Amino acid sequence: MSLKTVIITGANSGIGLAASHQLAARGARVVMACRNKERGESACEAVKSSSHNPHVYFVELDTSSKASVTRCAGEILSRWPVIDALIHNAATFDISQTKGHLTEDGVEYVWATNYLGPWLLTRLLLEALSASKPGRVIDISSKGLLAKPFLSIEPNKAASVEDFSPQTAYYRSKLAMLTHTMTLAREHDPRDLVSLAVWVPAVKVAPDRIPPLSPLMKKIYMLKRRFALEPEEMAPVYVALALDDAWKDRTGVLVDEHLREVKPPGKVFHMDAALELERITQEQLQL
Ligand SMILES: NC(=O)c1ccc[n+]([C@@H]2O[C@H](COP(=O)([O-])OP(=O)(O)OC[C@H]3O[C@@H](n4cnc5c(N)ncnc54)[C@H](OP(=O)(O)O)[C@@H]3O)[C@@H](O)[C@H]2O)c1
Repeated sequence: MSLKTVIITGANSGIGLAASHQLAARGARVVMACRNKERGESACEAVKSSSHNPHVYFVELDTSSKASVTRCAGEILSRWPVIDALIHNAATFDISQTKGHLTEDGVEYVWATNYLGPWLLTRLLLEALSASKPGRVIDISSKGLLAKPFLSIEPNKAASVEDFSPQTAYYRSKLAMLTHTMTLAREHDPRDLVSLAVWVPAVKVAPDRIPPLSPLMKKIYMLKRRFALEPEEMAPVYVALALDDAWKDRTGVLVDEHLREVKPPGKVFHMDAALELERITQEQLQL
């Protein structure tokens, strides 16, 4: 039987790293797409050695950069022309950030990293995904959206650094990823491509990745951490969606940490808004 090829972004830490270990232990070919060569290669070696699976690879990818996404997609396509699953795990969320900043492409950084880059990577890998009949695209969103019922994506505002707030920037990008899941489900025959999304709850982040916070914020953060899942407890959801037969013909579905189907916010199904998001996304990426 041929190996299943799974591309996972932001795979050098947290849930992405835990999922890479578990995917490799299940015998998949795991392509760990990470922005930092040293961290990525060292995580890749760790996964290879713990799983005794030699089919684990590192590729360099900075999702905030159009040039990096395009280069990475080219490398992936030349090495693995058939892709079974693409997991959009990489994301940035720095609650200590007080000002927005623009990427080299002139777009707000959180929006570029968490939404535009993953959107473009999907687009560039579509044919290779469809070749596995069906390829699976797995979008990682956040359960924190439950606390933001009135938030809209507003893609033009999301791409700008005016009135920046790290929370709004992050949750807009995570709402856009859910809309992406539903749009892919609408646009593709599920025999070619299925799209699934995960609503991640609070999960522990490595202490060295916690941003510098005020003493009060640090206390709140540490309290929240007590109730958070370990990355290893969340990773099986990624693995099931990427590899299990139970998910091979489900599409446009959002699941929680127990692999239970949950109803996404109604606005992600809104056809006009989704079409508008697609149009503006292509404009922002200058496609
Ligand atoms: N932890 C939570 O409580 C929580 C809650 C809801 C949703 N989520 C979502 O779950 C996913 C995994 O989060 P986590 O908790 O495992 O966080 P994490 O440990 O901070 O991992 C994030 C990963 O994304 C990578 N990344 C960040 N910016 C990138 C860029 N521009 N290009 C490529 N990679 C980039 C990081 O790489 P570097 O090492 O280079 O920084 C890191 O490998 C994210 O999508 C997150 O939004 C997490």
